[in-house]
Formats: sequence, C-alpha cells, structure tokens
Amino acid sequence: MADLNVKINDLRLKNPVMTASGTFGYGLEFADFVPLDQIGGIIVKGTTLKPREGNDYPRMAETPQGMLNCVGLQNKGVDYFIGHIYPEIKDIDTNMIVNVSGDSPESYAETAGRLDVLDGIPAIEVNISCPNVKEGGMAFGVTCAGAASIVKAVRARYHKTLIVKLSPNVTDIAGIARACEDEGADSVSLINTLMGMAIDIEHRRPKLSIRTGGLSGPAVKPVAVRMVNDVARAVKIPVIGLGGISTAEDAIEFLMAGATAVQIGTANFLDPRVTIKVRDGISDWLDRHGCKSVTEIINCLA
Ligand SMILES: Cc1cc2nc3c(=O)[nH]c(=O)nc-3n(C[C@H](O)[C@H](O)[C@H](O)COP(=O)(O)O)c2cc1C
Repeated sequence: MADLNVKINDLRLKNPVMTASGTFGYGLEFADFVPLDQIGGIIVKGTTLKPREGNDYPRMAETPQGMLNCVGLQNKGVDYFIGHIYPEIKDIDTNMIVNVSGDSPESYAETAGRLDVLDGIPAIEVNISCPNVKEGGMAFGVTCAGAASIVKAVRARYHKTLIVKLSPNVTDIAGIARACEDEGADSVSLINTLMGMAIDIEHRRPKLSIRTGGLSGPAVKPVAVRMVNDVARAVKIPVIGLGGISTAEDAIEFLMAGATAVQIGTANFLDPRVTIKVRDGISDWLDRHGCKSVTEIINCLA
C-alpha cells in the first residue's frame, strides 16, 4: 500500500486528509461515527480571545451544490477552550489544530500565545478570512499589509507550526500568500468561504440574518483548485487545499494542483465518515497507478 505520510513544516500527518474548521466541532462530536485517530488532522472551531455569541438566526441556507453560512465565529473564548475543551481532546491521536480569529493584531497574538504552551496542540491555523464578522476577520485577509500585520504579531508569540488561512474574496491571492510567507508563516491553507447572498423571494428578504454569508461545498471547488494552484506556484511553504472536497478524486485534484494536504468541510454534514472514505480512495488510486507515496502526485501537473 502506498505511503500516505506528508509533512507540513514539522507537523507529521499520517495521511493528507484533515477536517476544516467550523464543520467538525472539536472532533469529539464525531467520535461515534469516525475513528478520529485515522484522520490526518482536525482543525477545531474558530477560537477568539473573548467569547462570541455569533450572528442572529437564520445562519444557514442551502444553495445549488453548496450552502451559505453566517455563523460568525460563535465560541466561548480561548480560556474556556484551555480549561474545558483542551483536557478532553488533548490525547486524541491525531494533529489537533486550533483555528484562531481576532479583531486586531494584538488579540490574535494574545490568543496564539495562550495556545503556544499546550503540548497537545502542535499547530494553529490563523483565520484572516472569515467573511461573517463585522470587525477583523476577513478585513485583514484582503490586503498584503493587513495579512502581514497579523502574521508578524502572531509569529512573535507562537513558536510551533503556524498555518494562515486565506480568503478567496481577493483579486491576488498569490500576493497575499507571499506576504504571509515573508512574515514567517509555515504554511497557508485556502480557501475560506466565498461571499454570497440568497433571497427568499416570497418574503422579499435575504435568507440570512446579516444579508450575506460564506458559500461552501462542491460549487466552490473549481475556484478553490485554481487558487491553490496560483498560490503553490508563488510560495515555497506547503499549501493546504480545501473548498468543495467530497470525494477522493476531488482531493487528488487539489494535491495535483500543489496542495501537500487537504481539508474537508461541508461534506462532513452529509457524511460524517467522508474523511476516512477520501483517505481510502486516495490510497486505492495510488495503488492502481503504481505510486509508492502520495508525495509523487503533489504538485505534479505537466
Ligand atoms: C458552518 C461553517 C462554519 C465555518 N466556520 C469556520 C471557522 O470558524 N473558521 C474558519 O477558518 N473557517 C470556517 N468555515 C470555513 C470552512 O472551514 C472551509 O474553509 C469552507 O467551508 C470551504 O470548504 P468546504 O467547501 O469543504 O466546506 C466554516 C464553514 C462552514 C460551512
């Protein structure tokens, strides 16, 4: 059987399939359905310095081949995470990675600093791309200077693997990825959701409480593959690809486009075992094509 191990900086993944933040809780919620230790990594819910209520309901709307959400980073804050959730998840035998958000360079850095000391968290994913919060979030991810300011502040306080999650709601995602690399990011992940809107025509109002939301699911995949390829051609650090993956074939497209690993988000809502199925499908594909290691197909485009 082909070797599925990959590396993101110092982070060793037993296979390249991870779960995306906000779609897999803290992992524990899925433990009855999926052997968590067989997933390459679990990116837990978005975590902020102070607790956040999130946005009003409705927060979700189905769209063709996808969904819109405006959850708005609802969470109980980093101290609650450290005191109550970390003890429950720290011994899960996979890479438990915390997704971090904030409203200023200082708040991102403070949250990252508090996570730096946790032995069971080998990496963080800094979200500079959430479209559903008024302050901070995506605002930092849409300019090179904004992205650089967050990465610089976090890098000063965080000493383990630092992944930066990029926004697709930009014209030059490669430039923003380079700005993150220049400030010391170890990896970039992309894409977060694409800004969208849906309308309830009977009531003549937006379907989501805050008018707009983030589009995810199969509908976004071609946009995501293109952006992963743009970024992989522009930076030397490893790229993590996501956006619309629900099958092994989808994941292989991202690997060939230049991703060292992938994440699966919305598809977990339809099939909680999708990560394991995608891992097995990648393994079968590699065996059928005579590949000894998954690394043979990463960034392999002619
Ligand atoms: C309900 C929901 C909540 C999400 N929450 C977060 C979050 O807290 N932090 C983050 O970086 N991304 C968040 N995302 C974005 C996903 O992690 C992912 O980037 C996006 O959905 C694209 O992948 P997919 O098409 O596989 O879902 C969320 C997505 C959904 C659908």
